Amino acid sequence: MTKILVIDDERPILEMLKLSLSSEGYDVLTAENGEKALEIFKEQCPQLVLTDIKMPGIDGIEVLKRIKTLNKEVEVIVITGHGDMDTAIAALQHGASDFVTKPLRDEVLMVSLERAKKKLAMCEQLKDYTDNLEKKVEECKLGLRQAQDELVKTERLASIGETVSGLAHYIKNIMTGLGGGIYMVHTGMTKEKPDMMEEGWAMFQHNIERVSDLVLDLLRYAKQTAPQRGSCRLNEIVPEVMRIFKEEAGVHKVKLSMDLDPDLKEADIEYDGMRRALVNLISNAIDACIYDVDLSKKWEVVVKTRIRTGADHGKTIHITVTDNGCGMTDEVKGQLFQRFFTTKPGRGIGLGLLVTQKVVYEHGGEILLDSIAGQGTTVSLLLSVT
Ligand SMILES: Nc1ncnc2c1ncn2[C@@H]1O[C@H](COP(=O)(O)OP(=O)(O)O)[C@@H](O)[C@H]1O
Ligand SMILES: [Mg+2]
Repeated sequence: MTKILVIDDERPILEMLKLSLSSEGYDVLTAENGEKALEIFKEQCPQLVLTDIKMPGIDGIEVLKRIKTLNKEVEVIVITGHGDMDTAIAALQHGASDFVTKPLRDEVLMVSLERAKKKLAMCEQLKDYTDNLEKKVEECKLGLRQAQDELVKTERLASIGETVSGLAHYIKNIMTGLGGGIYMVHTGMTKEKPDMMEEGWAMFQHNIERVSDLVLDLLRYAKQTAPQRGSCRLNEIVPEVMRIFKEEAGVHKVKLSMDLDPDLKEADIEYDGMRRALVNLISNAIDACIYDVDLSKKWEVVVKTRIRTGADHGKTIHITVTDNGCGMTDEVKGQLFQRFFTTKPGRGIGLGLLVTQKVVYEHGGEILLDSIAGQGTTVSLLLSVT
């Protein structure tokens, strides 16, 4: 039942309205003046108000204004004197939904009330719709969050799967190498062939190094903590790493050389990380010479260090590893930093550049690549130091 508050200072009119509106099915509240009306309004919260304008004390316009401030969704219909258009307009300007003129005619009043009721119903519907919309948005948000969580889980599972299969493949290769080495050592021993024993032993050692490299790269790749910086001499790390590759480079006729900046003294960098980055870059450079099809070349790998002072007086260490090996095609360049991307099946695992990039980024540095297919590659690491 719709609650309506009727306000009029003339008692007979009030009674008459109460009667006719009750018979139309309204729940009717009455007030003889503005003050009383506002009290009832606050207590009973009717959705419809029908008020006379001309009343002693608080007049109808004032009642309308105050009611609208209390609840702007209430429908207020004002009763004006016949021909009093100015008051009617003023009422409409203050948010009245309609006006009816005296003498009141039931059918006009009922049409106006029906219209007001329809407006109320529409407002209610709109509110329901808005509430529902908010609920729907919440549901969508929840769904999206669940989908996102699922995606992260699937992505993690996919990445674990990818990691396991990449590793399994690579480890199988190492095992084959180890098995081959052991077989040669064994045959060399039984057949008393020292050359075979030595060759087998070298194979064995090489594959043990591959396992250790793999473990170091994986640990570095998975590491979440900040680099453990300390005072390091890069000009000492470079020859240390070069020594590891001396034999392999010799076997493949690759000349290794260094060009170290004597002004580069101690720097605040992580020794392990930088060593890992250099191992990866130098091994890639030697591989690039081994994989080069141009056998007329004199292959060379050069590691350079430089310390530069910028315009802002900040210092940057430049480490470049240059080779004149096979270089990279554009297709290869586009995939370099993808996990397990390698063009060296059986020899590479595709973590080296990723690990190097990670180390450089952890130092707030940059990694730059310059490569021409068939001519060679230069990888530069730029590290800002204080
Ligand atoms: N100096 C280089 N010259 C030519 N290609 C390179 C060089 N360095 C990296 N690459 C290419 O990038 C790929 C990824 O390198 P990396 O991440 O170190 O993995 P991996 O050496 O195990 O293949 C290599 O397989 C190779 O194709
Ligand atoms: Mg590599």
